[in-house]
Amino acid sequence: MSFKSGDKKGKSGNRPLVCVQGLGFVGLAMATVIANACDNNKIPIYNVIGIDLPTNKNSIDIINGGELPFKTEDTSFLEELNRAVLINKNFFATSDVSFYSQADIVIVDVPLNIKKRSKNDYSKYLLPKKPFEIAIGLLGEKIKPDCLVLIETTVPPGFCSKIVKPILEKHFKLRNITSSPIIAYSYERVMPGKEYLDSIRNYYRTFSGIDDISAQKAQSFLESIINIKDYPLRREQETESCELAKILENSYRAVNIAFIYEWTLLAEKIGINLFSVIKGIKNRKTHNNIMEPGFGVGGYCLTKDSLLALWSADNFYNSMYGLPFSKTALEVNDKMPLHTIDLILQETSVRDKKVAIMGISYREDVGDTRFSPSELFYKELLKLKGICFVHDPYVEYWPECQEAPFISFDHSLKNVDIIAFTVRHRCYLEATKEYLLEISKEGALFVDAFNILDDKKISFLLEHNRNVIGVGKGHIQRMKETINCQKY
Ligand SMILES: NC(=O)c1ccc[n+]([C@@H]2O[C@H](COP(=O)([O-])OP(=O)(O)OC[C@H]3O[C@@H](n4cnc5c(N)ncnc54)[C@H](O)[C@@H]3O)[C@@H](O)[C@H]2O)c1
Repeated sequence: MSFKSGDKKGKSGNRPLVCVQGLGFVGLAMATVIANACDNNKIPIYNVIGIDLPTNKNSIDIINGGELPFKTEDTSFLEELNRAVLINKNFFATSDVSFYSQADIVIVDVPLNIKKRSKNDYSKYLLPKKPFEIAIGLLGEKIKPDCLVLIETTVPPGFCSKIVKPILEKHFKLRNITSSPIIAYSYERVMPGKEYLDSIRNYYRTFSGIDDISAQKAQSFLESIINIKDYPLRREQETESCELAKILENSYRAVNIAFIYEWTLLAEKIGINLFSVIKGIKNRKTHNNIMEPGFGVGGYCLTKDSLLALWSADNFYNSMYGLPFSKTALEVNDKMPLHTIDLILQETSVRDKKVAIMGISYREDVGDTRFSPSELFYKELLKLKGICFVHDPYVEYWPECQEAPFISFDHSLKNVDIIAFTVRHRCYLEATKEYLLEISKEGALFVDAFNILDDKKISFLLEHNRNVIGVGKGHIQRMKETINCQKY
């Protein structure tokens, strides 16, 4: 494939070329936004080539057909991808790394995993950084000296200056390039879901450069793809600050979630509705982002990012203090799904019971199952000899639990003893109380692990001989008592 021959108007060969390294949940969205960035005459500004590993050929082929390799609620994503690939023809995907040599800008969106080595002590971690270093080394071997390398991968603070820069410099030296590599960092706040592309284009961005030239190049590029009129860019002076900002943002959220967990336990004991309490607290402006009770925390970012900072503290900066608070939050959050199991066991044994887990992605309205809290939930239920089924409107295959049998959100649930709503997918929120009644059997236990059922639905189900429990919903016990009093 080549823009020079495949160009509709014969002009695309002259546009700056942006290569996006890694076409996953972030890279593909970013590539689509870049390919759809237009000048005042509505002409695309860039040619874009997305480069992924040969092992990801299936996704590459799907993308080149103008389709998305995963499901999303953001319909504009598919439209824009389709327009770029099939109509404007300024975007294609490949595994051919030779294209890096033509790039004016490379966006790095490859993963950097950190693995937890002990379930109980998160100071034992492993950062396999080799694949990331290989990805950067490949750029060092191929890119033009003046190519901007914009890192978006979430990395430990210090990575750009202490890992990326030396790797690129080493390769430049081998190639007798005397100029310094141009390196910038700008983290993604992309939110897969209904506003997937908007969370890139219409959202605040922080960036930094390894030096002034790098920062200026990154700024001009970001200005051309992001709505800076409404969302001005923010520059941090050092790449370390920008790298740390991303992780601190996510750690703040993880800590906020872990904090509310202990209050959830107490509220349930007292027999109160913590959602109602929190609604009142949110009226106070300083407290309006307090988290609500939930099933657990999942996904590729919130479950690991604090550990990247811990790695940095341990390996780059020899910080004796570390990040005990943030580390504890990760530990609390990872075990949170077990609380829903405790709630179930207070009502009934799981042994030989049919359990439907409604929601296996890591968050609402997305099909990404990485580090989903449903995984621990599922595995623990199996250990308790439950007979588990799973449902998710966005997932057809669960890579982490491949043997899990799928069930439909319909009358198939008539045989099920326990129906656990674990993800706030739209279709669950939209199910009417009548529908829930119709598809469940008498005596079935509904588990509302993520505030999916409102009080009207809960009391309707209770009145119709279904049982209901909920995380953070201690008040359900009182509802049951009232209904029982009315019955007898
Ligand atoms: N998913 C999110 O919501 C999100 C949000 C903000 C930031 N991030 C960060 O963005 C980065 C990417 O996350 P993601 O969710 O897109 O991951 P992903 O696993 O969905 O995608 C990564 C892609 O990179 C490809 N890849 C790996 N090595 C490669 C190489 N050498 N060359 C080319 N391609 C390569 C993989 O095949 C995969 O398709 C991570 O650092 C993540 O922490 C993710």
